[in-house]
Amino acid sequence: MTDGVQTTNATVAFQEVSKTFGHVLAVNKLNLEVAQGEFLVLLGPSGCGKTTSLRMLAGLERISSGTIRIGGTIVNELPPRSRNVAMVFQSYALYPHLSVYENLAYPLRIRGLPKASIGPRVREVASLLQIDSLLERRPKQLSGGQRQRVALGRAIVRRPAVFLMDEPLSNLDAQLRVHTRGELKRLQSELGVTTIYVTHDQAEAMTLADRVAIMRDGLLQQVGPPRAIYDQPSNMFVARFLGSPGMNFLKGVLRADGGRLGWSSNGYSLQLPSEWTSAVQAAPASAPAEVYLGVRPENVAFVDQPDEASLPAEVYVSEALGNETLVRLQVNGQDLVARADANFEPDVGTRVWVRPDLRRAHLFDAANEARII
Ligand SMILES: Nc1ncnc2c1ncn2[C@@H]1O[C@H](COP(=O)(O)OP(=O)(O)O)[C@@H](O)[C@H]1O
Ligand SMILES: [Mg+2]
Repeated sequence: MTDGVQTTNATVAFQEVSKTFGHVLAVNKLNLEVAQGEFLVLLGPSGCGKTTSLRMLAGLERISSGTIRIGGTIVNELPPRSRNVAMVFQSYALYPHLSVYENLAYPLRIRGLPKASIGPRVREVASLLQIDSLLERRPKQLSGGQRQRVALGRAIVRRPAVFLMDEPLSNLDAQLRVHTRGELKRLQSELGVTTIYVTHDQAEAMTLADRVAIMRDGLLQQVGPPRAIYDQPSNMFVARFLGSPGMNFLKGVLRADGGRLGWSSNGYSLQLPSEWTSAVQAAPASAPAEVYLGVRPENVAFVDQPDEASLPAEVYVSEALGNETLVRLQVNGQDLVARADANFEPDVGTRVWVRPDLRRAHLFDAANEARII
């Protein structure tokens, strides 16, 4: 192979890449750069354009406009086989009539690798994935997890410039999915090959990614390390999508001086941190304005004595999970979930006081859902 992408472990760049299917704008001016060896997770709900983005990168889908580079080479017009990418799908079709060994050897044979090098490469990958003892078996004699490893092996054995994975764990049961997730993370860091991984599962994104790119309706919302996005989401969609359960939002009215958040329904208000005042006053929607107070379930505390910083709430239901209890509450007619100790299990209808930790809370503009603080 003389044309195409030669590099191993390549950078990837999407520049203003769009894709339309008839009237559907599946991907809207995507700009995204992935570094050498990086594990980037493309996250978002079903239909937001993740698979389409990956397929355009692989060359399985023509792009409508923009530029895609792999290792600096523009690949817009290159056929899939010249892009040096390996893709693992949710439905990993292994060849049923071939042994595991032959399934792994196949991608090398069709690329014309000398016979003498095929055996050692297959064994090296099999040992890396701990499937050496399965080489003589057929796919139907394997468990789901083992089959998934063979599918990964078939991608790895080619030593591609980029791994592309589209929800590769979603056919596994919950326990195996968590286990394989850990193995995949370890494997990727050992191999150090640039990886783009698509999922709608925020826990996979949080645990696997060096950086997460969150999409909604074809539009990239935010890119960054998982923790940074979790702590500093750019808008309510991102805040809601990360975390399980996601961030809570209490809609209220910002008082004229920007220092208090109030509720007309019951006259309660919260004193906001003084550090927030200047940012709140600078926000496009000047006070008084409708905002959402965003607070994560782990940052809601139950207090015995009501004070300036707490709100009255009523327990809607308690969900004991063994290691913790999720307490679903009604606050001023709005839903709020709090993460509490396993031994705290208040009855339905109990009246309590809750205190959102404002040092870890955020304010969002109710008009455009963008984060103000
Ligand atoms: N081949 C196709 N023809 C028409 N519409 C498509 C095609 N592939 C995807 N779409 C549409 O493009 C949007 C993005 O789809 P997709 O990339 O598969 O989303 P995701 O992988 O995030 O679930 C969806 O609205 C989907 O219906
Ligand atoms: Mg998809």
